[in-house]
Amino acid sequence: MITGIGGQDGSYLAELLLDKGYEVTGVVRRSSAPNLWRIEHLLDRVSLRPGDLLDQLSLMRIVQDVRPDEFYNLAAMSFVPASWDQPLLTGEFNSQGVTRVLEAIRQVDPGIRVYQASSSEMYGRVREVPQTELTPFYPRSPYGVSKVFGHYITVNYRESYGLYACSGILFNHESPRRGLEFVTRKVTDGVARIKLGLADHLSLGNLDACRDWGFAGDYVQAMWMMLQQDEADDYVIATGISHSVRQLVEAAFGHAGLDWQRYVRTDPALLRPAEVDHLIGDASKARRVLGWEPAVGFDRLVSMMVDADLARLGGAAGRVR
Ligand code: NAP
Ligand code: GDD
Repeated sequence: MITGIGGQDGSYLAELLLDKGYEVTGVVRRSSAPNLWRIEHLLDRVSLRPGDLLDQLSLMRIVQDVRPDEFYNLAAMSFVPASWDQPLLTGEFNSQGVTRVLEAIRQVDPGIRVYQASSSEMYGRVREVPQTELTPFYPRSPYGVSKVFGHYITVNYRESYGLYACSGILFNHESPRRGLEFVTRKVTDGVARIKLGLADHLSLGNLDACRDWGFAGDYVQAMWMMLQQDEADDYVIATGISHSVRQLVEAAFGHAGLDWQRYVRTDPALLRPAEVDHLIGDASKARRVLGWEPAVGFDRLVSMMVDADLARLGGAAGRVR
């Protein structure tokens, strides 16, 4: 069972589990216009159930009906800037939503294994470099704060009730299916638009921020591996290599044969009230215990994303012309 199956990670995880022969059920919240474009190609192979992290009864009912072996809680309000606009709702989704999931599992069937999508954003103003499972948290956004609660309530249900509950502390991971508001996809989409004559510039915020960017397809493998161990535990998942937004921009424009300095503008309105300056993860524990290794590096990730946006918009540009 996957909450957030229609999101970036949910779509890759559903593919991975189907390939392994799992029956996959996705939990989707009701919307007047369904947002299932990332799993359109899977719709005949997964079953979808209506449910919402805000609604305890819906979660209990679905868990009771389906009785999954594994529950991956990926649903969240995941865009950091939006968390300053809606801090209470962010907490309802990302903090109490996790408690609702854990409580549904505890009450219906405490044998269900559960994965919680925790985040490197919890490290915020980092206390040590690189960050490990033991690095103290110092979140810098309502999103980060909400994820710290989600992490600790997962650990607490493991320790209080013996649930097999894992918290995966994942560093930023991207793909051609990334939402357009996140910086990697905003950049690769912008590069494709400029290259195809659909735009003449790209506005960005802080170019100095550094992130440890990996490929989402690699990261969902780690989620699955965490639920196949003898004992539940928490793991950092990261590449161990960090790049600045400026380096991301250079790589993406460079891949399309463009000089980024001619097209990129900085807009102070895109700066955040409090920034996370530099994230870099140490995934030695995941390597040692799970045998997990990322396969896709930064340059390949960026070129894959630029190529995908060029291919997607190439048709649109042709139609516009
Ligand atoms: P995403 O693309 O934004 O997907 C989030 C999913 O959650 C969407 O399918 C969304 O459905 C669903 N959702 C939101 N609120 C919900 C609710 N109240 N009830 C049910 N479903 C709800 O995010 P992602 O990049 O795949 O990330 C997956 C998880 O990993 C998130 O928890 C995120 O915070 C965490 N994470 C991500 C990264 C990363 O770099 N991608 C790193 C660390 C942690 P709608 O279509 O209805 O909005
Ligand atoms: N989104 C965005 N848009 N970010 C920008 C821009 C811009 O125009 N210009 C610069 N940035 C900088 C941000 O200030 C931030 O430092 C960095 O680019 C990355 O921003 P995002 O791609 O929005 O990701 P994030 O790091 O805030 O959050 C993502 O990663 C977390 C894990 O560390 C999300 O996926 C979270 O859900 C996830 O938990």
